[in-house]
Amino acid sequence: MEGIAGKVAIVTGGASGIGAGVARAFAAAGAKVVIGDILEEAGAALAAESESDCRFVAADLRREVDIGKLVDTAVQAFGGIDFIVCVACTYADRGVESGRAEWMNGFDVNLFGHIMLVQRARPYLARSSSPSVVNFSSGSANFALSGRWIYPATKAAIEQVTRSQAMDLAADGIRVNAVQPAWTAKATLASGPAEARERYNALAGRLHMLRRAGSASEVADAVLFLCSSHAGFVTGSCLRVDGGHTAMGPQGLDRVLPTDLRAAGKAT
Ligand SMILES: NC(=O)c1ccc[n+]([C@@H]2O[C@H](COP(=O)([O-])OP(=O)(O)OC[C@H]3O[C@@H](n4cnc5c(N)ncnc54)[C@H](O)[C@@H]3O)[C@@H](O)[C@H]2O)c1
Repeated sequence: MEGIAGKVAIVTGGASGIGAGVARAFAAAGAKVVIGDILEEAGAALAAESESDCRFVAADLRREVDIGKLVDTAVQAFGGIDFIVCVACTYADRGVESGRAEWMNGFDVNLFGHIMLVQRARPYLARSSSPSVVNFSSGSANFALSGRWIYPATKAAIEQVTRSQAMDLAADGIRVNAVQPAWTAKATLASGPAEARERYNALAGRLHMLRRAGSASEVADAVLFLCSSHAGFVTGSCLRVDGGHTAMGPQGLDRVLPTDLRAAGKAT
């Protein structure tokens, strides 16, 4: 993809899951990467494994000082910032039982930390020739989910913030978009118990038009596209990378045409 090699990307949540896939994809495309995460061992191992320029910063997005460290590391090590990819999240959520502190924490990690990171990095992004921010939403931003209230609310909120950021940062040439994955299988699933994997795959098969979950590399491809020069006129958008999960209605993959129902009525 054009416009990625030689650029500098900050990836939050890059020590594991989809974030690690995004960090690897940037490195493979020749970008310099700064990973920010609270998982120190995994983050350091990923940075060490990379053959291109990759740094790990132990950074908790709830702490301003850590957000500053992320920005400073990119600028001091690599001379600037071109892309910010906001992948980190907490799934902690007890639905109707969630207390104020839990709501505060969910929004702090999934929303406020990322907003503060972009705010802090803005002067450097403005100096880039092709600055881009990619936020992470989720299919869950669109639906009511039993037992999950906080996480979907943070994801709906980041989509709105994406539009606001795109509006006001466009003056500096900064494009801001979001991706909206649905079920995305992680490495831990492949190495986990076969029974869990079978259950996951059976459910994913029913809940996506493409009859499977996505992969971290498929989500990473969409992120790189949004940062690349191929997406030079794309801003304020939310790109679904979801195998048709959200476009599918409540009847799922079942074919329920009135003619079929009438035929079934005659048959019985
Ligand atoms: N996996 C899915 O099926 C799926 C589906 C839809 C959307 N998403 C979105 O994709 C993104 C990645 O999801 P994932 O499943 O790979 O998540 P994950 O839990 O595997 O990874 C999230 C990362 O964020 C880090 N993190 C958590 N709190 C942090 C904090 N306070 N400061 C810094 N880092 C912190 C974690 O240590 C972890 O490395 C998330 O934004 C999620 O909402 C995932």
